[in-house]
Amino acid sequence: MIPRIYIPGDSGALALGAERVAKAVRAELAERGIEAKIVRNGSRGAYFLEPMVEVATANGRVAYGPVKPSDVKSLFDCGFLTGGHHKRWLGAPDKIPFLARQTRLTFARCGVTDPLSLDHYKAHGGLNGLQNAVAMTPSDIVKQVTESGLRGRGGAGFPTGIKWKTVLDTSADRKYIVCNADEGDSGTFADRMIMEGDPFVLIEGMTIAGIATGATKGFIYIRSEYPHAVAVMQKAVEIARRAGVLGVNVLGSPNSFDMEVRVGAGAYVCGEETALLDSLEGKRGQVRAKPPLPAHKGLFGKPTVINNVISLASVPVIMDKGAAFYKDFGMGRSRGTIPIQIAGNVKYPGLYEAAFGMTLGEIVDDIGGGAATGRPVKAVQVGGPLGAYFPRALFDTPFDYEAFAAKDGLIGHAGIVVFDDSADMLKQARFAMEFCAIESCGKCTPCRIGSTRGVEVLDRLAENIEPEKQIALVTDLCNTMKFGSLCALGGFTPYPVMSALNHFPDDFRPTPVAEAAE
Ligand SMILES: Cc1cc2nc3c(=O)[nH]c(=O)nc-3n(C[C@H](O)[C@H](O)[C@H](O)COP(=O)(O)O)c2cc1C
Ligand code: SF4
Repeated sequence: MIPRIYIPGDSGALALGAERVAKAVRAELAERGIEAKIVRNGSRGAYFLEPMVEVATANGRVAYGPVKPSDVKSLFDCGFLTGGHHKRWLGAPDKIPFLARQTRLTFARCGVTDPLSLDHYKAHGGLNGLQNAVAMTPSDIVKQVTESGLRGRGGAGFPTGIKWKTVLDTSADRKYIVCNADEGDSGTFADRMIMEGDPFVLIEGMTIAGIATGATKGFIYIRSEYPHAVAVMQKAVEIARRAGVLGVNVLGSPNSFDMEVRVGAGAYVCGEETALLDSLEGKRGQVRAKPPLPAHKGLFGKPTVINNVISLASVPVIMDKGAAFYKDFGMGRSRGTIPIQIAGNVKYPGLYEAAFGMTLGEIVDDIGGGAATGRPVKAVQVGGPLGAYFPRALFDTPFDYEAFAAKDGLIGHAGIVVFDDSADMLKQARFAMEFCAIESCGKCTPCRIGSTRGVEVLDRLAENIEPEKQIALVTDLCNTMKFGSLCALGGFTPYPVMSALNHFPDDFRPTPVAEAAE
């Protein structure tokens, strides 16, 4: 059997040099006259070990990482094709602590399989969920998804089954499934990893959603900054169509479902579901007033399910193993697993899928290993640019929608960005306001005008001009934005601003000039 070498084609790994490593491996194989198959797999998500190269040996897969092109010659000298020892040797990938401690349901195949091999997908449990779904009634599928407790992973945490039921119960000549792959939150990359590393799971999830709700057409709206994900998804859709997974008779059943990939417009607000629909319709992405809900009147005025990539990619395992299996993981009303994305100033950045319920401290200190700089962690922003900053005092908060809301925070798309003690939280608050001012769609006044005024107030505070007055002003302004904005861009910008102010008040009272000079 010819040796198999796995070198990730995932854009995170490519950014860390995977392409140069692949080139060096090819050159070395040619020079030594060795025949081998190179598979461009996705990443397993341990980015501190990327580029992580794996070889399939008689005793299973053996990993090496992080591999530099200059390591390649010595890897061959050490007999890495049969798992030989080398300074980059990591052993069996499943035993690497960062990976071994995870509960991989949604990401079970990511980094393991060849992303564009449908045979590989099926050999690892792929299409089992869809096979079960085509034999069920739409309402039974919706019931299964509802009972699993799955909630939207895009940010709002809305129960997926209830959304699907609304579309199922709305009659129309045409319905749509729209996958939100805009992934605009800072420090997030789960959607990208799935699309690049296991695209068929998303196709399978969307097809199940179509069958469950009576929708026959789907669109995947992918942000323009993800060219690799766009390319992989386009190829995967084509392969799925040729194999009869998509088309007029899904897996030979009477159900029909097909989909297209669309590239986003490059605005953060286009991730908001109604702005996304406008963008998909070819208009400028601007938030629509609700009602009507997209489930009643969505894309081109037709009933539409809009779900995040991870929500849809979690459906196949639910349909394969059952609602009870999935629901068994998690805590409270947060059921199943969540792919936590650990980023920023952290020693072990990467994607960590686990059941809901780990504390923030466990994630940052135990899994993430603390700050990469070795300095104390000062704050963690959870949930993207609209998420609150959590101080160490709140590190006992469990990763759970309700527990985070109780601490004036949100889980969002489960991205966490770590800051060490050199971070200036006044600057971070200003950044949040400025981000809102730049990304505002302009439809409502509290967000459009409020964010610009917010930047001005925080600038005056930084200059120490009447600080108490500025703090009162920014607090008042945040209340207006929170309660008066049409969507969460304006409505949630107060979370990072006020959490920074409340948890790190010292940063908002700059040292008087005279004192600083002493
Ligand atoms: C400003 C803004 C940006 C958003 N960006 C995204 C995004 O990039 N991806 C996403 O899935 N949801 C995003 N959302 C949430 C969506 O509006 C919507 O709730 C989600 O797509 C629904 O899918 P889910 O129920 O599967 O989470 C955003 C919301 C707002 C207000
Ligand atoms: S809150 Fe901001 S982004 Fe949302 S509708 Fe209003 S102006 Fe547009």
